[in-house]
Amino acid sequence: MKSVILDVNDATYSLDVHPDEPLALALRNRLGLTGVRMGCSLEQCGACAVLVDGESTLACVRPAADFEGRRIETVEGLGTPESPGAVQQALLDAGAAQCGFCTSGLAVAITALLRGDPHPDEEVIRAALAPHLCRCGAHPRVLRAVRRLASEGVS
Ligand code: FES
Ligand code: FES
Repeated sequence: MKSVILDVNDATYSLDVHPDEPLALALRNRLGLTGVRMGCSLEQCGACAVLVDGESTLACVRPAADFEGRRIETVEGLGTPESPGAVQQALLDAGAAQCGFCTSGLAVAITALLRGDPHPDEEVIRAALAPHLCRCGAHPRVLRAVRRLASEGVS
């Protein structure tokens, strides 16, 4: 085991992890942040995305130890069920989650996108969402949510 210190959702945690333990598993299993999804485990589906220093970052392969000294935000840091963040609320309003498995990663990607560019055009939106697979076919409703946020300049 290896001791790591992680900055997650504005709190600091000291964890004992396996040397090759992916960040997503450390967040889920050691911190209970199960909004972080573990899908393909191959950096191919986007489900595991978290914000690292503001960038949407896949967390299913790279070990947790790689992220010491970085600022990590998970979907839990973007709002709560009682008080959803703007991106979460827009996804809810658009009915953009069916099974919801992909939704955390999408919320993270949308947050990163809008923090960098509050008014992205369609091409930029689609490029940001492209790495995120949705087996339920919710993408049209996700796009509707992001277009609304982009038109309002909400991030
Ligand atoms: S679980 Fe990380 S990209 Fe699929
Ligand atoms: S809502 Fe089910 S995978 Fe996207």
